[in-house]
Amino acid sequence: MNNEKRLYVHPGPVRVWHWVNALGFVILILTGFQIRFADILNIMPLQDAITIHNYVGFTLIGNYFIWLIYYLSTGKIKIYILDVRTLVPMAIKQMLYYGYGIFRGDENPHHMTPDNKFNALQQQAYAAIMLIFLPAQMLSGVFLWKVKGYSDYIHLLGGIKTIDTIHVILFFFFGSFVMIHCYLATLGHTPLAHFKAMFTGYEDH
Ligand code: HEM
Repeated sequence: MNNEKRLYVHPGPVRVWHWVNALGFVILILTGFQIRFADILNIMPLQDAITIHNYVGFTLIGNYFIWLIYYLSTGKIKIYILDVRTLVPMAIKQMLYYGYGIFRGDENPHHMTPDNKFNALQQQAYAAIMLIFLPAQMLSGVFLWKVKGYSDYIHLLGGIKTIDTIHVILFFFFGSFVMIHCYLATLGHTPLAHFKAMFTGYEDH
């Protein structure tokens, strides 16, 4: 294999985190639908859905720390930190590419390197997801798991309705994200190129 033309962009811990997370999310979304729409859906018994949702939820909380510890301990977390000076123009360029240029065969305005692997849109989306939305989803999930035990915190944060609304809105957000994310992941030089890279670690240059 010719590694000179290939860039090592997804280190092992990130790949393990990502695929455990992706599988877990599919299960959480399915069981989440069953729990939320128990009166009209019958994918599985409600109690089973709750039990699976709780186990998988806690597994993904543990899994999140693989991602966090890896990025903090290596200092690579900086690829998630936005540069406000270039953010807006780069995001506009990238949107024009996805909305128009890509259909004319234009070159992608972003050139990936291991230290700058995300385009402006990916960077904003991933930073929001990994540093705000996922922690908020995990915390609200833990509070909903033991409502009585955490009643003081729940009260402090606006009550059970607020916590539940945050959890459900983020649930719909993540459901939509997964679909868009899967579509965008097919836009490599071949439809499966980015998927393969998330398994092997190497992206073709
Ligand atoms: C369910 C199926 C999923 C598939 C097929 C998938 C596919 C991919 C692929 C191919 C990449 C590498 C290309 C890129 O950076 O865009 C990637 C990266 C990424 N995905 Fe996913 N993904 C899935 C689910 C998820 C979920 C549920 C999340 C988070 C809630 C997620 C978050 C991320 C993040 C943060 C990265 C960048 C990771 C890093 O390099 O630090 N993915 N995904």
